[in-house]
Amino acid sequence: MTTLETDVPSDGRTTEACAETVFAGILGMEQTTALYLGDRLGWYRSLAQDGPATAPELAARTGTAARYAREWLEYQAVCGLLTVDDPGAAPDERCFAMPAAHVPVLADLDSEAVLTPFARILVASLRRIDDLLEAYRTGGGVSWETFGDDAREGQSAQNRPLLRDALARDHLPLLGDVDAALRAGGRVADVGCGEGWSPIGIARAYPSATVDGFDVDAASVDAARRHAAAEGVGDRVAVQHAGIEAAEAGAYDLVCAFECVHDMPDPVAVLAGMRRAVAPGGTVLIMDEKVADAFAPDGDEVEQLFYGFSLMCCLPDGLSTPGSVGTGTVMRRGTLEGYARAAGFAAVEVLDELDNDIFRFYRLC
Ligand SMILES: C[S@@+](CC[C@H](N)C(=O)[O-])C[C@H]1O[C@@H](n2cnc3c(N)ncnc32)[C@H](O)[C@@H]1O
Repeated sequence: MTTLETDVPSDGRTTEACAETVFAGILGMEQTTALYLGDRLGWYRSLAQDGPATAPELAARTGTAARYAREWLEYQAVCGLLTVDDPGAAPDERCFAMPAAHVPVLADLDSEAVLTPFARILVASLRRIDDLLEAYRTGGGVSWETFGDDAREGQSAQNRPLLRDALARDHLPLLGDVDAALRAGGRVADVGCGEGWSPIGIARAYPSATVDGFDVDAASVDAARRHAAAEGVGDRVAVQHAGIEAAEAGAYDLVCAFECVHDMPDPVAVLAGMRRAVAPGGTVLIMDEKVADAFAPDGDEVEQLFYGFSLMCCLPDGLSTPGSVGTGTVMRRGTLEGYARAAGFAAVEVLDELDNDIFRFYRLC
């Protein structure tokens, strides 16, 4: 045995398969970086909106450098994300195009298929790699605020099609009592509302409802207020720079939290605050990651996705507050049930009819 070998049996696992898994990740990281560049430089949007382009044309349209545009375009074609009319043409005469089927993933921020915002969150984390190393050594954290604009705006953009459009169109109507209360002009409290797309979506779909958003991140609150005004619902969406403790007790037909309970340093206190805020007969609704009920090796893509975000963002964010429970992104059903019981709820109902590929909805009773 060399110094680099272990005596753990391989159990059918091979060096080649391990190398393939790791190599796919390295290719994925390269692709994520290129995704970030193409999104931030406006290259994907230009190809989608203004049509095919050579490298000099794309550079001129977007105010960027033609030599870099050429390398990026060729890489995108090599990866199969763009097509090229004549690969044999001189480099600056090759014309690159985005297949119509790729537009929802790469360029349409209103599409539920869009994936470019994920790249912004991941790049935001990599920018803070030294802080992450320090946190991993000391047990400290890296706050949501420290991860900065790319993390906040990436999160907001990734969830916007769901929270602004699909939530009130496809999901809430499945909860008959909630739907009826909001149609009748109900009140909603939305904790951890981020840049405000869930309050905005609810206010847009239910024209007589009013929504109070709460978030502890000042930049998120500013953005949420701006977005609410721009979407024409600023009169019915009020966003406070505060936690749920600022909400009026017993006043809300719906008290909700979308993809944020796992980030909270004291989720039991927040759930108790949600319980206090809900009106008799009202609903407490949580949307969080659709992870498996128990840890197991060789997890599926959803499990891998959320462990990755936990390593890079959510766990260090949670641990940036002293005394945090340190949930991490992978908040399993049993963990939420434990928090809910400690907050005074009797039961957690899993709303299977509402879930999608990556999120699960829970009603706390
Ligand atoms: C991952 S973001 C989710 C934002 C939004 N709900 C969405 O899905 O886009 C988590 C949000 O929870 C907020 N947050 C964390 N702890 C909080 C607390 N105790 N009270 C209110 N907001 C909190 C953060 O500031 C952040 O905006």
